Amino acid sequence: MDIKNIKKEFPIFKQKINGNSLVYLDSANSSQKPQVVIDKISSFYKTEYSNVGRSVHTLAVKATNRFEATRDKVQKYLNAKHREEIIFTKGATEAINLVASSYGKKYIKKGDEVLITELEHHSNYVPWNYLRTDKSAIIKFAQVNENGDVEIEEIKKLISNKTKIIAITHISNVTGAILPITKIVELAKEKNIPVLIDGTQGAPHSKIDMQKIGCDFYAISCHKMYGPNGLGVLYMKKKWVDDLPPYQGGGRND
Ligand SMILES: Cc1ncc(COP(=O)(O)O)c(C=O)c1O
Repeated sequence: MDIKNIKKEFPIFKQKINGNSLVYLDSANSSQKPQVVIDKISSFYKTEYSNVGRSVHTLAVKATNRFEATRDKVQKYLNAKHREEIIFTKGATEAINLVASSYGKKYIKKGDEVLITELEHHSNYVPWNYLRTDKSAIIKFAQVNENGDVEIEEIKKLISNKTKIIAITHISNVTGAILPITKIVELAKEKNIPVLIDGTQGAPHSKIDMQKIGCDFYAISCHKMYGPNGLGVLYMKKKWVDDLPPYQGGGRND
């Protein structure tokens, strides 16, 4: 990998900070933006800007077409079966809140269990915690072993006939531990339990294929993948797109 040339794509590194070259070690939090992304955003605002899906004039149609073409690209990138399975959100946090809220509303009642792990980011804990307070659901935590990994046996041990969803990170944002997501999905499928994967760190660091992983939901954060801030993607299997109640009303839900 030619790091020097890759670095040249990012204009932020052209400056000095306190007289020193900039060293940025916070990409897992949010990545810097390459020139091509900055240029595209800027040219859109300069020459093409219009609201998406709300008007029929030339600019609006162009913006809407671009938006839908992006959905097709993301579908291809994730190897999703249907374009409707790609839902744009404000970030991974909103993607997970969407699932916790819509799935929770329809399927979670008092005493039902949500299985997460000790490795989760707040974004994959707090939305489920709302179900604990609002619906008296129970959150079960799979523990990490002495190497910092979550073993499949630990997940197996915690699944019960009350488990209504498993929500796990793909890669930990703290330790970098990679979870055995495919095995966890296989196990969950045997018991008919849907699986949400927080792919915020997984998507930037691995090739992700929804057909191979087989999960029901996969949440992605675009600002950690060189994309603009305030953008995320939720992959949602079509059966849930057709089944779950809306998360928000009004405006345009994408
Ligand atoms: C593992 C993990 N999940 C969720 C999030 C939240 O992502 P977003 O900023 O897109 O809401 C982060 C951000 O740091 C993260 O690292």
